[in-house]
Amino acid sequence: MTKIKIHPDGPVFDCREGDTILRAALRAGLGMPYSCNVGSCGNCRFELLDGEVLHQRTDAPAWSERDLKRNRWLGCQAAPKSDCTIKFRQDPSTVCRDRPEIRTAELVSITPVTRDINEFTFRIPAQDGFRPGQYALITPPDVEGGRAYSMANLAGDGTWSFMIKRVPGGAATGCLFEQATPGDEMTIDGPYGTAWLRADSERDIVLAAGGSGLSPMVSIARGALAQGMLDNQTLHFFYGARTSSDLFDPEAVLGKELAGKIRFTAALSEAETGWSGPSGLLPNVIAQTMGPALCEQELYFAGPPAMSAAIQKTAYEAGLQMDRMHFDEFF
Ligand SMILES: Cc1cc2nc3c(=O)[nH]c(=O)nc-3n(C[C@H](O)[C@H](O)[C@H](O)COP(=O)(O)OP(=O)(O)OC[C@H]3O[C@@H](n4cnc5c(N)ncnc54)[C@H](O)[C@@H]3O)c2cc1C
Ligand code: FES
Repeated sequence: MTKIKIHPDGPVFDCREGDTILRAALRAGLGMPYSCNVGSCGNCRFELLDGEVLHQRTDAPAWSERDLKRNRWLGCQAAPKSDCTIKFRQDPSTVCRDRPEIRTAELVSITPVTRDINEFTFRIPAQDGFRPGQYALITPPDVEGGRAYSMANLAGDGTWSFMIKRVPGGAATGCLFEQATPGDEMTIDGPYGTAWLRADSERDIVLAAGGSGLSPMVSIARGALAQGMLDNQTLHFFYGARTSSDLFDPEAVLGKELAGKIRFTAALSEAETGWSGPSGLLPNVIAQTMGPALCEQELYFAGPPAMSAAIQKTAYEAGLQMDRMHFDEFF
């Protein structure tokens, strides 16, 4: 166990062996900026004033030689080797309502959702709280570094379900799709993420998911229904896929009641002849469908980085304020 002090007169928190500074800060109830938790976004960068740390992921894309020269490290990857003093701007908006915990969880079922997305459901021991839209880090056996996957269900029944898209040649998805079977145990660390459902907002809701971004949007839609938000608020659910073979049946995945209460739009970027729905890139379909009303929504989105950046740009150009756009960066 090491002690981490936040400069100049911030709190001191404990970091267990094997843990990283970001995750230990969040477990201690502190607000440290972050998004991806896997070394790719750079939001968790801090300055090391005293002590020694080691990056768990040495090839983290958001970390450079320049950072090393300036003694800047990534909180999600930096494991302390001694007591440390660090400097970063605390952000109360990232304080976790449900403190993240590392658990050993049993895989209980695997259910196909689309051609290349399966839903993996784990039994979560003890505290299972999370907010709709949050994610956890799953470490399949023999994979180096946990991968981030968003929960698709709602907390409260002792399980966490993840809709996971198979990535050709991927280490974690290869293991999950080819080797994992019910009864297997895996390490799951969470919940994390700041793109959770704002249940106190009375605005209409737009959810936009591309491929692997489906899971958190399903959870948010389920959360909105459970909170009674859909009695007074309209929820537009946009799903972007390449071809019709990548689509799913909304009633089968969301349930009949939820599917009946939302406006679901599937858009294909490589539509085949005979497709009668919208085609083109998801941000364009959202802009065309929503028109000027886009600037009055609470917007949540998830999926490939290029798509997320384009949705953010579209919403910004439509006049939507940044504090009404909610997303965690997927990599
Ligand atoms: C916040 C967030 C939420 C996500 N939610 C979902 C979801 O709900 N469903 C879904 O299908 N996908 C989701 N992803 C993507 C997912 O985490 C993986 O990137 C994807 O499944 C590919 O993993 P892989 O191991 O199969 O592929 P690989 O190509 O083997 O791994 C690529 C990914 O793993 C990361 N990585 C590589 N090495 C390490 C390491 N040592 N330590 C940590 N990370 C490493 C890379 O940054 C890259 O993102 C999410 C990503 C993020 C950041
Ligand atoms: S790089 Fe650490 S949270 Fe993204």
